[in-house]
Amino acid sequence: MKKSSVVFLNKLPTGAKLSEILGKKPQKFLIIYDSKLERNSDFKIWIKKFSFTYKVKAGESLKSLESFPGHVKKIFRLISPFSPRSVCVVAVGGGSIGDFAGFAASVIKRGVPLIHLPTTLLAAMDSAHGGKTALNISGFKNQVGSFYPAESVLLMKTFFQSLPNTQIRSAYGEFAKMALIQGDPLLKNLQGSKKLDLEFLWTQLTEVIDEKWKWVKKDPYEESNVRQVLNLGHSLGHVLEAYYGLPHGLAVGQGLIFAVKWSHHRGYMAADVKESLLELLIQKMGFLSPESFVKKHKKLTASKLMKFITEDKKMVDARRLNFVFLEKPGIPFVKKVSIHSFITETQRQGWTQV
Ligand SMILES: NC(=O)c1ccc[n+]([C@@H]2O[C@H](COP(=O)([O-])OP(=O)(O)OC[C@H]3O[C@@H](n4cnc5c(N)ncnc54)[C@H](O)[C@@H]3O)[C@@H](O)[C@H]2O)c1
Ligand SMILES: [Zn+2]
Repeated sequence: MKKSSVVFLNKLPTGAKLSEILGKKPQKFLIIYDSKLERNSDFKIWIKKFSFTYKVKAGESLKSLESFPGHVKKIFRLISPFSPRSVCVVAVGGGSIGDFAGFAASVIKRGVPLIHLPTTLLAAMDSAHGGKTALNISGFKNQVGSFYPAESVLLMKTFFQSLPNTQIRSAYGEFAKMALIQGDPLLKNLQGSKKLDLEFLWTQLTEVIDEKWKWVKKDPYEESNVRQVLNLGHSLGHVLEAYYGLPHGLAVGQGLIFAVKWSHHRGYMAADVKESLLELLIQKMGFLSPESFVKKHKKLTASKLMKFITEDKKMVDARRLNFVFLEKPGIPFVKKVSIHSFITETQRQGWTQV
């Protein structure tokens, strides 16, 4: 899998600039963008300069497999004056736009060039890189998808200035995941940071993106367990995201707490390491302990959890799933666990009730 080039931009790119970045001139750029971006006046002027634009509403419903054929038909109608093969898809938005537009680019005429212009920090540091695209089936996340890396990912800081605080915090969930997977320097930087804001994350982007690609390169198509370490925090995270409708990264942050506690309980992680990681995640980063989480949200029943976890794509077979444990920062590893032990652990930690 070819690593997407990462290009930092000061202003929105013209068609000519996009052609230059792509290294070729597609007949047409098809800009698939988040409708919310029209609140930004520069964006509103920019988007009018392109003839082929497709506006969508961000979120998990955009990723629904059920509504995908309708979108594709509309897109084909839009680009009908040209051969669909001569189109380059430019995805402008957060992770949901990237997953949707990336999947569309991978299947239109069996694949047309793709460029990501992430507008959330979560997409900028994580989802736009590594080539995964995804759609959901009946609310179950990422059941259908393809490996389809963008040729380039364009990063523009000004987009992130309009992000609400929850979105910044959501990005921090994925950032914490990478810090735990890598260890230093990311972990040290996170622990030493004075303020968890956009400015700090911006300084860490290159390191986080490189760390993700390091794992992707070792196992680009998830044929071994290696790439799966990037799912640290995601087993419980995906369940909480789907069940409570939490932003992805906030759910991952909660999932990291679960993974740290379970790693310790199973004897893989020393007590002092556990304590310092929980302090980082809860006290410094503001993710919730299981007790505070269930006080704020309704407690999940074990049967609901069972339903969500068996639909998760990390399942090995009907009874087991691949779970990412952590010995210490920098030493993540994947182990098959039974669903039964996973559910028992969520009860022991207090996330679920029988
Ligand atoms: N493919 C991958 O490798 C990968 C990795 C991680 C997450 N994901 C997926 O990414 C999605 C989560 O990403 P996300 O949080 O970026 O999703 P999102 O696209 O739903 O964006 C979140 C919210 O931010 C808004 N928004 C976007 N840009 C904005 C801006 N500049 N200013 C203000 N608001 C803005 C959106 O309208 C939306 O309400 C999930 O579907 C998750 O499964 C994919
Ligand atoms: Zn994620």
